[in-house]
Amino acid sequence: MPKKPQATASLPRLAIAIMAAGKGTRLKSKHPKVLHEIGGKPILAHVIATATKVVPAKDIFVIIGHEADRVREAVGISGVNFVLQAEQRGTGHALMVAREALSSYDQVIVLSGDAPLITAETIQNLSDFHSAQKATMTLLTADLANPFGYGRVVRKSAKSAEVKSIVEEKAASPLQKKIREINSGFYAFSVAALYQHIGSLSTDNPHQEYYLTDMAAVFNRTKKKVVAIKTSDAGEVLGSNTRAEMMELDALLRLAKCRQLLSEGVTIYYPQTCVIDSDVEIGTDTVIEPFVQLRGKTRIGSDCRIRSYSVIKDAEIADGVTVQPGCIIDDARIATAAIVGPYSRLRPGTEVGEGAHVGNFVETKKAKLGRGSKANHLTYLGDAEIGEGVNVGAGTITCNYDGVKKHKTIIEDGVFVGSDSTLIAPIKIGKGAYIGAASCITEDVPADALALGRARQTTKEGWVKEKQGAQSRK
Ligand code: UD1
Ligand code: CA
Repeated sequence: MPKKPQATASLPRLAIAIMAAGKGTRLKSKHPKVLHEIGGKPILAHVIATATKVVPAKDIFVIIGHEADRVREAVGISGVNFVLQAEQRGTGHALMVAREALSSYDQVIVLSGDAPLITAETIQNLSDFHSAQKATMTLLTADLANPFGYGRVVRKSAKSAEVKSIVEEKAASPLQKKIREINSGFYAFSVAALYQHIGSLSTDNPHQEYYLTDMAAVFNRTKKKVVAIKTSDAGEVLGSNTRAEMMELDALLRLAKCRQLLSEGVTIYYPQTCVIDSDVEIGTDTVIEPFVQLRGKTRIGSDCRIRSYSVIKDAEIADGVTVQPGCIIDDARIATAAIVGPYSRLRPGTEVGEGAHVGNFVETKKAKLGRGSKANHLTYLGDAEIGEGVNVGAGTITCNYDGVKKHKTIIEDGVFVGSDSTLIAPIKIGKGAYIGAASCITEDVPADALALGRARQTTKEGWVKEKQGAQSRK
């Protein structure tokens, strides 16, 4: 059981509930709405990340239902609690099922699992405003140029902070549809009052659901205070009910990420063309050229240059690294001042040493390339451990797979592998050894040896002329 929160004289015991049980019918998808990805991770993961900036994970309750197991698995690592809403009968019903979980709190902030741009600052403002107003329900609102689809906020009077009701799009009169102030779907509630009155909700509406929004009218009937606080940044409250809305949010998130990086000292040319996930970290004076994708947990140091058309995922790149155009790098580590590309493919488990070079059309997998080593052209290095100062000639192939098992190639410091060599693993090339070009190496090579594994050349002098003579005699 999570430890129960302690009340203090001034601070309410605060919980955050995130509604994430809905199916997302409007997406026409077999995946639950909150698991669709924007900014490189599930929409719900963004909401949880923001919520954990306001309260610890133990005070966050995610209400799940549709595909609950998948949702739990996708975001469980955050350490939040889950509440199961087995049947999804509306946003009001979502809070009904959370009654027990929230019983030991004074105040609950309700967030929508499909609205990921909300900031911790706005959530805190909502909570503080609710406390200061001694309200029973506080809604976060925004003025939208196009309020279509959202619940409209009916205030007691134009200037009043107090709210009479929230009217959903489908139930709104033509006059109410003209209201541009929308309900964001984010609220603060006093927990005791919410559960004292939540039983008054009905399903008397076009969807036959329990609407949480109807609590505004319920509280008004019982003379409880309902107020609204408007955000200045309407972008923060946007939801993602359709794929088009989702892509708008994705674009907003990515641009915000680029702006953050620019302000932190990273140059990004033509940022509209770059796809940089939320969790990516980049050091100062690194330059990102147009059409670069930086995905997942990629970390890039200072003074690097990532050139166009490279797709880099979950990679760790140290300072002063150059990634030439067109590289695909996945789960690899690249040390200081290394140069990769153009057109290199570094697959998982690749480690490129300090100042090492991996060049065009080189593929690596679980390959470690020591300091200053070079594999510049047309090479496959798989399950290979390569020391320092090694030269891997063009067209070298480590034959790591015998059809059943993978085997290792070890190349020690200072080895020179001539072009077009095939190294049949398991194999070890000792320190300082030479491999003659076009060799097929099947046996270990001791240190400082020259190994040649190819047929001796035969040259037949005058052969062409003889052949031509034979043909003309026919
Ligand atoms: C809701 C509000 C609307 C507001 C809008 C803001 C209601 C009735 N309307 O509408 O006033 O302008 O958000 O984005 O609340 N969910 C559950 N269980 C359910 C139903 C929904 O957990 O039984 C979750 C959904 O997964 C979603 C969130 O609640 O994350 C909001 O539900 P959604 O159906 O998207 O509500 P809207 O129609 O957007
Ligand atoms: Ca919504």
